[in-house]
Amino acid sequence: MSEPLVLGIETSCDETGVGLVRGRTLLFDAIASSVDQHARFGGVVPEVASRAHLEAMVPTVERACREAGVSLDDVDAVSVTAGPGLAGALLVGVAAAKALALGLGVPLYGVNHLAAHVAVDVVEHGPLPEPTMGLLVSGGHSNLLLVPDVTHDIRSLGATIDDAAGEAFDKVARVLGLPFPGGPHIDRVAREGDQVAIDFPRGLTSGRDMQRHRFDYSFSGLKTAVARWVQACADAGEPVPVADVAASFQEAVVDVLTRKAVLACAEHGVEDLLIGGGVAANSRLRALAQERCDAAGVRLRVPRPGLCTDNGAMVAALGAQMVMRGRPPSGLDLPADSSQPVEQVRS
Ligand code: KG4
Ligand code: ZN
Repeated sequence: MSEPLVLGIETSCDETGVGLVRGRTLLFDAIASSVDQHARFGGVVPEVASRAHLEAMVPTVERACREAGVSLDDVDAVSVTAGPGLAGALLVGVAAAKALALGLGVPLYGVNHLAAHVAVDVVEHGPLPEPTMGLLVSGGHSNLLLVPDVTHDIRSLGATIDDAAGEAFDKVARVLGLPFPGGPHIDRVAREGDQVAIDFPRGLTSGRDMQRHRFDYSFSGLKTAVARWVQACADAGEPVPVADVAASFQEAVVDVLTRKAVLACAEHGVEDLLIGGGVAANSRLRALAQERCDAAGVRLRVPRPGLCTDNGAMVAALGAQMVMRGRPPSGLDLPADSSQPVEQVRS
């Protein structure tokens, strides 16, 4: 089987994603999001997300097949996010994938969500160089990964020790009175602001931190610094310069993200950096990463925004690569693991 048709299911957070990939070709990526149902809570409510997955699953599978022009009978394997993510949300996807694999009589691949964020880029930019450095930044994760083989060998170099990068964007947006999810709003507002107006802290970059947490991130102190700064404005009866705060905050985040990612490439002799996750849509992150990669002789790969946020295509893409590499499938007793370590690419 040289070009397997794989159906991928993603339900780790608030997106019900169903993707169809043949080999490295994306046929269709269907998404149903429950983000609107969470907006008034200022964050994803797990129970609400799980119910939404249950309701959206079958219609989304049907839509993906219809739009891709394939029948379920054509599917050679089913792949699903087994973790990490919200436990109840994962269970809905895993149960659906088991039912499909059993009913169709095809192999089941339970895959790691973070690995899938890296693997998806093959549908846009072709095979992944081995090794590739992966920087994953989203509402749920901030990881620096050394990826010798996305189908079975991923090593964690560092991760956030508190808030995820996207979480920091969302929390700071709230402080600034911008809607949820805040990342895109900060990105937009920051274009009108001055990124050097306020010197916000760069987490885990001091000499001592660079020894103990060389490739780790921390955004909680930055978030608090922004909240204090805004409060001081209010206390003084002055208007908050929202654009300057947004631009200076964003600069602090993307400065540390790109600095450590490029350093990791240099220290591990890796020539290709891939950025994924929802925050990879950030215009300043893309620009600064490109600038620093060019200066360091590193090639930068960033999937288009629709493939950076959670989706089913990434799970299908990783499943298809596993099939093509002859990796063994998962058993039908596949568990969902909300805290699945990144090194465990397949469950
Ligand atoms: O990957 P994703 O869709 O879901 C998670 O797995 O979390 O990422 C969503 C996160 C949110 O925190 C959102 O604010 C952030 O990505 N985000 C952005 C931008 N677009 C989305 N952050 C900064 N700039 C953006 N343009
Ligand atoms: Zn994700």
